[in-house]
Amino acid sequence: MSLESNTPNGYAIECKDLTRKFGTLTAVDSLNLRIRKGELFGFLGPNGAGKTTTIKMLTTLLSPTSGDAKVAGYDIRDEAPLVRARIGVVPQEFAMFDELSAMENLWYIGELYGMKKEMLKRRSEELLKTVGLLAQKNVRAGSFSGGMKQRLSIAAGILHTPEILYMDEPTTGLDPQSRIAIRELTQTLNRSGITVVYTTHDMEEADKLCQRIVIMDRGEIKAEGSPSELKEKYGGGHRIEIELKSHDERLLAELKELVSATSVSVDDGIIQMTVPTVGGGMLHQISGLLSKRKIDVRELRSKEPSLEEVFINLTSKEVRD
Ligand SMILES: Nc1ncnc2c1ncn2[C@@H]1O[C@H](COP(=O)(O)OP(=O)(O)O)[C@@H](O)[C@H]1O
Ligand SMILES: [Mg+2]
Repeated sequence: MSLESNTPNGYAIECKDLTRKFGTLTAVDSLNLRIRKGELFGFLGPNGAGKTTTIKMLTTLLSPTSGDAKVAGYDIRDEAPLVRARIGVVPQEFAMFDELSAMENLWYIGELYGMKKEMLKRRSEELLKTVGLLAQKNVRAGSFSGGMKQRLSIAAGILHTPEILYMDEPTTGLDPQSRIAIRELTQTLNRSGITVVYTTHDMEEADKLCQRIVIMDRGEIKAEGSPSELKEKYGGGHRIEIELKSHDERLLAELKELVSATSVSVDDGIIQMTVPTVGGGMLHQISGLLSKRKIDVRELRSKEPSLEEVFINLTSKEVRD
């Protein structure tokens, strides 16, 4: 059922000044963004950042107030049916019929897409197997756990073999095992060639899963890049932590100079230094200096910044609901 591709420039999604207002509130503010075909791309942001509103515009469920976007090469305003045929959605809220079984839900959706009966039967079985629900194919969706519902939603989202799959906070509210299962499934789908647009407020998850991320806050993109690029650029530097039996001011000054630290502090007896990057031989040099001074080292470690630190550095710290 694969449709002809319309993306000769290699972009699955291109947004130009994409904006959505609700009254006086600007939920999405002039988004400029390109997502390459085949990417596993993340929108990371707290509640209210504008992730769902962005997804709704890019799935043609909500019209933009201003700006444009192309999805799979087609205009979201003027060519909405062509866009819809090429995308699948796993919505934030479960949108299946509780009274229907897993299989019946898929059949219902397949019929809406106009899929042929034979094809639909084959594809439903195959997908229920992929998402680990084949044994429960005749069970009512309403009796499923959160994780099972989410897996069924994923099967429904890819039933018509879309080029692009949007997943809106698919792991929010799930237990750790289910979260892992959803992430693995997402990666499997992405490896099979589907472009995945994934939203989450979980920074560790975005770090582990996504090849590229935008950090959104209050409708705006604060930063864009791979998780390691973002940590390098906005993480505030790497940390080196050294736990010694004893130290004095002179040693601290020497250590600071040795690694060109931008800051040095001592917290609970542990020396903490911030350095722009941890070069190859840096830890080695430190141990060299300490052994020359005959100082016992209890612990010497380097820590890269987390996406959480990137996020805090880029956004305001107030709590969102
Ligand atoms: N239909 C709507 N009417 C009014 N305000 C809305 C509507 N949908 C979303 N918003 C507001 O837009 C902002 C962004 O919401 P949303 O896109 O759902 O954020 P996220 O998915 O990142 O949590 C929030 O302040 C939200 O309250
Ligand atoms: Mg949302």
